[in-house]
Amino acid sequence: MPQPVLSLENLLFRWPDQVAACLDIERFEVAADEQVFIHGESGSGKSTLLNLIAGVLMPLQGNIVALGQPLTALSAAARDRFRVDHIGLIFQQFNLIPYLSVLDNVLLPCRFSRRRAERAGDIRQAAATLLRHLDLDENLWQRPATQLSVGQQQRVAAARALIGRPEIVIADEPTSALDAARQAAFLALLRRECAAANATLLFVSHDLRLAEGFVRRVEMGQINRMPL
Ligand SMILES: Nc1ncnc2c1ncn2[C@@H]1O[C@H](COP(=O)(O)OP(=O)(O)OP(=O)(O)O)[C@@H](O)[C@H]1O
Ligand SMILES: [Mg+2]
Repeated sequence: MPQPVLSLENLLFRWPDQVAACLDIERFEVAADEQVFIHGESGSGKSTLLNLIAGVLMPLQGNIVALGQPLTALSAAARDRFRVDHIGLIFQQFNLIPYLSVLDNVLLPCRFSRRRAERAGDIRQAAATLLRHLDLDENLWQRPATQLSVGQQQRVAAARALIGRPEIVIADEPTSALDAARQAAFLALLRRECAAANATLLFVSHDLRLAEGFVRRVEMGQINRMPL
């Protein structure tokens, strides 16, 4: 594999109030512009893994290197900066800011990261282009984000993750009642936009029906040595 975008080595993670480790991963690497489908049943540690990769959680042991940067060597503040500069996140609950409009939610990473703003160019134009590509009707753009349907909110979260072309995009599939057809349509849009931006995509789901089209599929049990 050429220089990986992401590399996990001898990683051990345990939740503070638990006796057993949640994740024990000897090695997991992702190459630049790869799109990886990660699946596993509920509770298998998918969201935990994504939070480690995003530098939100820290491992008990082991290394996480993203874009050549060992995340464990960074302070919490430096990890926050690294995340907003280089990683686009789509959370399971979307985490949209309820009182901000759709457009302002999409612009948020550019407010926190000069790098993202510079890479976006005209930030309002960039947000508009993404929202159009993601099929979000223009008459919704000034609405508070939480007045949108779940499927619409998911697309706002995707536009927010993609603005300013972060090198890595991480998506945690919503557990909500979005049907498989809608999820598949969303995923197709997300994959197209990531490819266009040369971003590496990690997409997590428990629904194997969505794996179609992904060259690389990883089941949590293949990389995690801890039994559920
Ligand atoms: N904040 C927390 N504190 C303690 N334990 C946690 C916490 N969050 C998750 N866990 C535990 O870690 C394990 C993995 O949880 P995680 O949320 O990563 O699973 P998941 O694969 O994302 O599941 P789902 O498909 O339901 O989203 C579970 O046993 C869960 O109970
Ligand atoms: Mg989860």
